[in-house]
Amino acid sequence: MSDVAIGIHDVTKRFGRTVAVKNATLEISQGEFFSLLGPSGSGKTTLLRIIAGLEAPDGGRVTIAGKDVTDLPPYARGVGMVFQDFLLFPHMTVAENIQFPLRMQHANRATRDERLAWIVKLLRIDGLEGRFPHQLSGGQQQRVALARGLISRPALLLLDEPLANLDRELRKEMEVEVRRYQRELGIPFVYVTHNQEEALTMSDRIAVMRAGGFEQVAPKLDVYIAPATAFVASFVGHANRLRGNLRDGMLDWKGHRLALPKIEGATDGDAIDYFIKCEHLTIAPAGTSVGANLNRVDGTIRDIIFKGQVADHLVVLGDGTEIVVSEAASLPRVKAGDAVSITWAPDAGRSFRALDT
Ligand SMILES: Nc1ncnc2c1ncn2[C@@H]1O[C@H](COP(=O)(O)OP(=O)(O)O)[C@@H](O)[C@H]1O
Ligand SMILES: [Mg+2]
Repeated sequence: MSDVAIGIHDVTKRFGRTVAVKNATLEISQGEFFSLLGPSGSGKTTLLRIIAGLEAPDGGRVTIAGKDVTDLPPYARGVGMVFQDFLLFPHMTVAENIQFPLRMQHANRATRDERLAWIVKLLRIDGLEGRFPHQLSGGQQQRVALARGLISRPALLLLDEPLANLDRELRKEMEVEVRRYQRELGIPFVYVTHNQEEALTMSDRIAVMRAGGFEQVAPKLDVYIAPATAFVASFVGHANRLRGNLRDGMLDWKGHRLALPKIEGATDGDAIDYFIKCEHLTIAPAGTSVGANLNRVDGTIRDIIFKGQVADHLVVLGDGTEIVVSEAASLPRVKAGDAVSITWAPDAGRSFRALDT
């Protein structure tokens, strides 16, 4: 049997003149936590709804477990769903809310009770079955919504920004929980989010979407470390973008001559976007001498923003350009007003030909 759980083959969806999904092709494996990550309007929800059968594609096919489901209605696809506004029925108890999909399928009472017992235990909400939604915390409500999506034992679960309405603390906790459910169930989760931290925490692989297409589909570490496009480099992680021109194999950026990774097909004078993540920069004493294997620019610390484990150092260069350097927060070596040098290994960054502004 093939390991491919979900196949998306050249899927396109238009709304009037908007191309919401453009020639999307993708295979998601059994047991994979897969995220669709992209800004608002990039087509994530539309693609998820096409997998669910809530939206019919204008072209292309969808397969689940090797079977073409493109023309099947949602209820015949064996798919569970959880959405951002999870809409529990306020007048129903937790048990009734969770069992609702089974009632729709006319499952008998014994099955309903057995499944309920299984899912409330998995999601650690046993004991709450008799409560009403307004008697639950945000996290408990979210777990009930997840339980409702899972009680039919779907072959896969589709989640559309399910944690977006939770406060940060709870979201962080639920990210780990949801990932654990996925591991324990061993079914693929397709998770839609615009939040890169969420995608990086939870996923095995990530598809970065932009304007209905895939910019990169790769294991999350690859997306983070080796962005395939300038868009991915700017959208995932926190990077400084240095836009300059290629001169004699170096980047001429505001008068600085910087080493950079080779760019296929680029020639002298080309406009280049060089992305360097904040954590790949180092603050050094002003005027630190560096060899040819390091880049260096000089500036003054304007502000230090403490973020917990790291602190973002805002460094202003002579011409007013601001560079952000993330350093471990435990060593307050410098303070606002200090003159410093910023150094880094050129290969830690990624360079692309600048295509837009
Ligand atoms: N039912 C619809 N009618 C018209 N346009 C839509 C509809 N659904 C989505 N769109 C458009 O399709 C594009 C992709 O939307 P969507 O899939 O919701 O993106 P995302 O989930 O990434 O924010 C957007 O331009 C959006 O306005
Ligand atoms: Mg959406």
